[in-house]
Amino acid sequence: MNAIKHIIAVASGKGGVGKSTTAVNLALALKARGAAVGLLDADVYGPSQQTMLGVAPGTRPEQQGGQYLLPVMALGLKTMSMGYLVTERTPMVWRGPMAGGALTQMLEQTLWGELDYLVIDMPPGTGDIQLTLSQKARVAGAVIVTTPQDIAVQDAQKGIEMFRKVDIPILGVIENMAVHICTQCGHQEHVFGEHGGERIARDYGVSLLASLPLALSIREQTDSGRPTVIAEPDSAVTALYLAAADAVQAALAGLGDDAVQPFPQIQISDD
Ligand SMILES: Nc1ncnc2c1ncn2[C@@H]1O[C@H](COP(=O)(O)OP(=O)(O)O)[C@@H](O)[C@H]1O
Ligand SMILES: [Mg+2]
Ligand SMILES: [Zn+2]
Repeated sequence: MNAIKHIIAVASGKGGVGKSTTAVNLALALKARGAAVGLLDADVYGPSQQTMLGVAPGTRPEQQGGQYLLPVMALGLKTMSMGYLVTERTPMVWRGPMAGGALTQMLEQTLWGELDYLVIDMPPGTGDIQLTLSQKARVAGAVIVTTPQDIAVQDAQKGIEMFRKVDIPILGVIENMAVHICTQCGHQEHVFGEHGGERIARDYGVSLLASLPLALSIREQTDSGRPTVIAEPDSAVTALYLAAADAVQAALAGLGDDAVQPFPQIQISDD
């Protein structure tokens, strides 16, 4: 049953650069192109996909056979998130191994069914959890999100290097919050600097999949549970996400059958 053709990790070195926003819009863009898509919120410390997908607080995934969880359908995506599994009163102050375990469980015990793509919204950073997950999940490729800011770019480089170490191809870089366009007068301002995404793409020989503006609409729509690809399907911003999705699909196709990974077999024992 578990047949996922491509697992795509959306990662960043630094938190707050728009990784979750990019992951959900990218997943929705792949869906808009006709693919069957899942979205796993792997940010166990600060899950945000539940809010971004507009899933009502308190929604719990259905259980099956005591061991398995059915994904929560949201905006046409099959989704799973730590946000569905813990209550507001459950503290998120877990240590690494526990968090890693929870992630592996969400990945392996969710009945994803047939998917063309499973997009994983990775936790920020380049630590052990990220490494374990990228190995466990047999990731077909990684998309690196960065702002043009030097400090974010440096962290994004660490992310690229981490994936390279474990032989996961980099599908490309998405530059986020690249330019602010004033809603009053239309003037453009490079709030976080310029050309950061281009520079990292050039330095590492990977492609720049998209450069998203810092836009009030992106924040308002995504934070209110109607990400831009859904809220404004004909907008210029959605066109950028669709172009990024096309580039991701092309990059995966270019990798050929190597990128198509059978989902790991799940063994269940009583001990
Ligand atoms: N391109 C953008 N323009 C405006 N706001 C954005 C953009 N991308 C992300 N945001 C906002 O920035 C905040 C952090 O984004 P998020 O996707 O949660 O980052 P991360 O997952 O990297 O921590 C959110 O409030 C989000 O709505
Ligand atoms: Mg996030
Ligand atoms: Zn202005």
